[in-house]
Amino acid sequence: MQVRLIDPIDLEGFRQRARRLLAARVPPQEVHWCEGAGEGGFEADAPDDLWASGPAAATTAAARDVAPRVPAAFLDLCRRVILHRDPQRLDLLYRLLWRLVHEPALRHDPLDADRLLAQRMARAVGRDMHKMRAFVRFTTVQEEGGATRHVAWFEPEHRIVEANAPFFARRFAQMRWAILTPQRCVAWDGQALRFEPGADRSAKPPPDAGEALWLTYYEHIFNPARLKLAMMRREMPVRYWKNLPEAALIAPLSAAAQARSQQMIEAPATAPRRIRAPQQIHVVPAAGVAPVSLDELRAAAHACRACPIGALATQAVCGEGPLAPAHMLVGEQPGDQEDLSGRPFVGPAGQLLDRAMAELGWPRESVYLANAVKHFKFELRGKRRMHKTAGQREALACAPWLAQEIDLVQPQALVALGATAARTLLGRPVAVQAERGRWLRERADGRPVWVTLHPSALLRLPDPERPQAWRQWLADLARAREGAAPLQPA
Ligand code: URA
Repeated sequence: MQVRLIDPIDLEGFRQRARRLLAARVPPQEVHWCEGAGEGGFEADAPDDLWASGPAAATTAAARDVAPRVPAAFLDLCRRVILHRDPQRLDLLYRLLWRLVHEPALRHDPLDADRLLAQRMARAVGRDMHKMRAFVRFTTVQEEGGATRHVAWFEPEHRIVEANAPFFARRFAQMRWAILTPQRCVAWDGQALRFEPGADRSAKPPPDAGEALWLTYYEHIFNPARLKLAMMRREMPVRYWKNLPEAALIAPLSAAAQARSQQMIEAPATAPRRIRAPQQIHVVPAAGVAPVSLDELRAAAHACRACPIGALATQAVCGEGPLAPAHMLVGEQPGDQEDLSGRPFVGPAGQLLDRAMAELGWPRESVYLANAVKHFKFELRGKRRMHKTAGQREALACAPWLAQEIDLVQPQALVALGATAARTLLGRPVAVQAERGRWLRERADGRPVWVTLHPSALLRLPDPERPQAWRQWLADLARAREGAAPLQPA
């Protein structure tokens, strides 16, 4: 049996026909849904309300006999799925409706292939609606009589224009605008929405002065030091580029990014324009003040201005990991990515450490990872924030925060990654190469300290030296993992 839906997004029409089919007990494999004007297919009068959700459902005796309710979420799913371009979507929706009525277990099977397919279609429609909201670019057009209208050309993947139009009417309520698409056009005159048939690409208005301004703006906010093409393509899929004026800049800006970034590295430092004022100035707590919780420690370290670097960083980065671990690994200070994410060892040095631990079969989650200095110290070169090694002043100012962290976390042993950590943990200058690879027992709290290289020291090595240094570093870490032998009684 062929059933025709003249308007492909007419949910009411679909429901009426589906109700009749259900009432007549026509199974989905005997129905073929088609759409648009054409030959064949039956037109239905809407009979009793055989398919409804909510209190309006099954109001007549006949309806109650044949039409159990469907979950309200199914109706929401239909609203989205019907906008999908796939010609099979109506067959799928009727099949799901039939199955919901005849297979009660379907409601409890989230992995059912039909349900998953419908959800995928609904998500694709939702994504397309979101992209239309983000990527419609209006151009100002002067009309006869001097009035201005804002006109945009957009090519959606699905039939979303009607469903998305109210959003644009709310957002641009004061403007007269039109959005032209190949499938449907919509116009807003300040009072009401008007829909018209689709337009040809040649109706796309030519660029206006606003476009040049937008491109200049885009060029200026483009940061070559943060070029992430894969992420950009995920957020701004290539299929939308042809209608985005700024897309023409992506290739030249990306091609020049590395050279511009290098110039920034080589340029003299620029003075930061913005200094973050803490809500409340905390001084470093006096020695002997008992720490209360890691959350409080994080908040206090965030507001610390005992040295100048806290005012420029995004946030303090305290450690993470389990309490009472066998090991606490201590690095120097957060880098650019740690500063932005608020987590230690997530940037290149962290990735190298992850690789080493993975090779040793030492789960990262089993250790507590911290830093001697809690704020990112950097020098600004254009838009690049270049890491600067923390000086003694910063390390000293931060030492009480690390001491508090150790008190709260209670690790059995400490592993210093690099000289800054070793100096903070041992309270004296440490020559890493001379003192690496053995347990040092000098701390007043009795915790043994193992000293080894910081992962960024390996990243800085010339290629030929790296394999051997890597092997030695792995051996250091492996022995640190074994732990310190218990002290013998004197
Ligand atoms: N280097 C460190 O010492 N710590 C981090 O968290 C990242 C890089």
